[in-house]
Amino acid sequence: MQNRFIDSITQLPKPVATALIPLLNEDFCGHIDASQLATLVKASDMTEEALLLSLLPIAAALAKPSISEFYVGAIAKGESGDIYMGANFELASEALFHTVHAEQSAISHAWLNGEQKIVDIVVNFSPCGHCRQFINELVSGIDIKIHLPGQQPQLLAHYLPYAFGPKDLQVTKPLLSKSNIEFSLNSDDPMIIEAVDQAGLSYAPYTKNFAAVVIETKDGRTYCGRYAENAAFNPSMMPMQMALSNLIRHDRDYSDINRVVLIESSAGKVSLVNATMDTLQAVAAVELEHIVVDPS
Ligand code: THU
Ligand code: ZN
Repeated sequence: MQNRFIDSITQLPKPVATALIPLLNEDFCGHIDASQLATLVKASDMTEEALLLSLLPIAAALAKPSISEFYVGAIAKGESGDIYMGANFELASEALFHTVHAEQSAISHAWLNGEQKIVDIVVNFSPCGHCRQFINELVSGIDIKIHLPGQQPQLLAHYLPYAFGPKDLQVTKPLLSKSNIEFSLNSDDPMIIEAVDQAGLSYAPYTKNFAAVVIETKDGRTYCGRYAENAAFNPSMMPMQMALSNLIRHDRDYSDINRVVLIESSAGKVSLVNATMDTLQAVAAVELEHIVVDPS
């Protein structure tokens, strides 16, 4: 079992802990598939909702809140039946805007695994305004059920009345909708190929700057992040933030970072290069490889 779960596992009901421990191997990043979830529900003798609430200490253990030391854990349940944990991270000594919230981490975790709809979000603290706005960008966002300890589940519509969202800006294919932008680029570098593919899956309806970041660690593994814009602009999630959140969910250190590639579209109204370099220099002494590609 990974060291980061040693304390949180003791907070779980005993049958849940016993059934979960075999999953918490060195590769565990918070993804539990539908059949593993069914096994956990059975072993726990709880409702699925109660089980998910009981798993929140494990999600919160994925956090890296270097400034606040406030551990937030979230679980997004996809339409496939799989669940995806996420947690907050903050960059030590850096501006607070680099922070990724637990809900954003869980939602991006689901999206990177191909989910096209999220049905439930379970979280250990009430979602902040920024997260409510981020959730409202999703396919059927307003109908997502939010579950909190000690509260009746409520739709996002309850937490975000009079919502402003993509429809106000005439965007009809919200975040998580299936879409794939093709780019013309000839490269035989697997990391660049992966980044181009991920940029094609990014969500940039407001700037058309389809973009992605891939981080490679010294052992050759890669962790990607896609750009996810938001109708209210500021709650947008930068691809570098999403990639770092992915790296942290996998229990990797910043000191493991070897290469970082940012791909973005030549047709975008903005560039993320300065924002990405700013975040990168805070975590690793690695030069950003920046490639601008033409949509084909
Ligand atoms: N936080 C979340 O992760 N989700 C919320 O909706 C509430 C706040 C995090 C952000 C920051 O890392 C810490 O909690 C303190 O605000
Ligand atoms: Zn939040």
